[in-house]
Amino acid sequence: AGLFPGRINSQGLDLNDQTTLDATLSAIAEIGAKPHAATALVSGQAVSGTARAVVRPADPSQPIGTVIEASSDDVARALIAADAAADRWAATPVEERAACLERLADLLEAHRLELMVLCVHEAGKTIGDAVAEIREAVDFCRYYAVNAREQFRPVSLPGPTGELNELRLTGRGTFACISPWNFPLAIFIGQVTAALVAGNPVVAKPAPQTPLIAFRAVQLAHEAGIPADVLHFLPGGPDVGAALTASAAVHGVAFTGSTGTARAIARSLLSDDSRPLVPLIAETGGLNAMIVDSTALPEQVVGDVVTSAFRSAGQRCSALRLLIVQEDVADRIIHMLKGAMDALVLGDPADIRTDVGPVIDASAHNKLLAYRQSMKAQWIHTLEAPHTGLFVPPTLIRLNAIEDLSQEWFGPILHVVSWKAGELDSVVARINARGYGLTMGLHSRVAETAERVKSLAKVGNLYVNRSMIGAVVGSQPFGGEGLSGTGPKAGGPHYLLRFASERTVSVDT
Ligand code: SER
Repeated sequence: AGLFPGRINSQGLDLNDQTTLDATLSAIAEIGAKPHAATALVSGQAVSGTARAVVRPADPSQPIGTVIEASSDDVARALIAADAAADRWAATPVEERAACLERLADLLEAHRLELMVLCVHEAGKTIGDAVAEIREAVDFCRYYAVNAREQFRPVSLPGPTGELNELRLTGRGTFACISPWNFPLAIFIGQVTAALVAGNPVVAKPAPQTPLIAFRAVQLAHEAGIPADVLHFLPGGPDVGAALTASAAVHGVAFTGSTGTARAIARSLLSDDSRPLVPLIAETGGLNAMIVDSTALPEQVVGDVVTSAFRSAGQRCSALRLLIVQEDVADRIIHMLKGAMDALVLGDPADIRTDVGPVIDASAHNKLLAYRQSMKAQWIHTLEAPHTGLFVPPTLIRLNAIEDLSQEWFGPILHVVSWKAGELDSVVARINARGYGLTMGLHSRVAETAERVKSLAKVGNLYVNRSMIGAVVGSQPFGGEGLSGTGPKAGGPHYLLRFASERTVSVDT
């Protein structure tokens, strides 16, 4: 299941090719310098209102553009229009819906540079991360298109002679898609296209920090043939999200963000007894750990730790937060890790040499710096950060116990604890006991150790002898359990089923 022969992932851009790199860098300079304007779209129509500045994390004194957010009246109008379009869209043949996604994938590729520029300036992503972001968005479109064609065909089921049984998948009604700033295109597009191809109208709310790239994605989706009354764009803050989840016109929610917000959404969906019971597809945070034993290859461990903890400035829900190293090799690994950290380049994400860009906004910046400072007595190593921009220096912090990691710190801060031979089962049990279950890493050359961790780890994505970020659509379906989410795996063969109703029709002939 889920192999879909013939589908291939997007190839992205080869930045080692000088011509490609030159074109990318000049697009970043040119397109990045232009003002960008986004507005809420209700049935394709721009709304009126006051424009708010959208700023660059690398230099918040420099706006990159403006957004006109949705008012409560815009939210209400979008929900009415979406509801009116629901039956028509659900009855649109799946082939047509899938073809829209494939055209959207082509358009995203055709506008790759512009979208990458927005990723860099609006979200503070490095150029390498921006390439990966566009690829992932394209992959979601093509993957869900082939997935829907296969799954949304009526299936005949056996029964006694004279009885015909058929199972059909159909849309549920309007979906609210509420997405985060850390994958402002990929997760936004992933949620929206899954809901659309399953036959649901969508009201999409991007994160307040990153409306510009999401706005372009919605314009391209409309150009790809998604009807304007089927996809509405509602940028805004928590009020917009709360209005959506409180509405009885919403028949499902796809949400990626914090565990606390997911819980608030779940409460809101259940608060009114007259409302249908609707699904919540939530992907939330994690206290992601990597276990390293004394047989692991140190060079490989260090490379994978740096990638998992510090790339993307640690702003991935999959990112490594807690490194658990067997005590016999801890000094050696930490010594090498310090050297690898020293080689990281912090700076402007528009510079091709940058490894670690800024964090997303002033609130995240203040919170992370205050936490880092509060842990100063336990620093093992840290770096210097540029003076302007929202930079947090990558920092390594020693803890005495797994339980000392207080919460998910969403930035380039890595904690280290050690463990002793013979404690493997209890190490995994103690990680599990924290209640999160998103990613876990293991570095070991002992096959039995890997088998043991595979059988014990309660996580959605386990990575053995490699980095633990960058799940690939169709190869590493991504999503967590427990406090990390309600379970559906983005980029996996069962995701679309969560957006659909299943109906059985039995006919006595
Ligand atoms: N899908 C992303 C990753 O695998 C999650 O944040 O890194």
